Amino acid sequence: EQGTALAAIDAAIRIIPDFPQPGILFRDITPLLADPKAFALAQALLLERARSFSPDAIVAVEARGFLFGAPLALDLAVPLVPVRKPGKLPADTHSVDYGLEYGTDRLEIHSDALARGARVLLVDDLLATGGTVRAAADLVERLGADVVGALFLIELTGLGGAERLAEAHIGVSALLR
Ligand code: PRP
Ligand code: ADE
Repeated sequence: EQGTALAAIDAAIRIIPDFPQPGILFRDITPLLADPKAFALAQALLLERARSFSPDAIVAVEARGFLFGAPLALDLAVPLVPVRKPGKLPADTHSVDYGLEYGTDRLEIHSDALARGARVLLVDDLLATGGTVRAAADLVERLGADVVGALFLIELTGLGGAERLAEAHIGVSALLR
């Protein structure tokens, strides 16, 4: 039953207060990664959600997004495209600046990573302010591909993430809130 599965997944995520700075309740997914049953349950439920978007490609955000996006791309048999922190991608890139719950940063994508018109599902572990995935969506659109949705393990409510993505016409799907 899905309620039981979600409870098991939720129980495998721990909260670390004041990391990486005072006032942040950090959702630590490492206990989930270390629990193959709970991790498999999470991936199975994410896969079900991912299928409903009929994506042509998965775009996953460094670093934790890779952990959830890669198995989805394999299971769906679609390309996996990494969005990375600056200076990591070796070929021609597009880049965008963004703000997040703590700090600010820049993200990059390979300029030739997506076909024009490709249906892209964005994948990350967690939605907070939405800054990261909004930036990733901007990169996808600059390549002429279409964002069909954004899929997360965890959505933190009250930080405006879903609203910010809704402004950009991006629907949010998350296993846990
Ligand atoms: C975290 C998380 C998301 C982002 C969410 O990544 O994995 O990518 O923050 O925050 P937002 O919705 O406010 O943008 P982080 O930048 O800490 O990097 P990491 O995945 O490399 O740990
Ligand atoms: N990324 C942004 N905010 C976060 C939080 N509270 N926990 C884990 N990752 C995050």
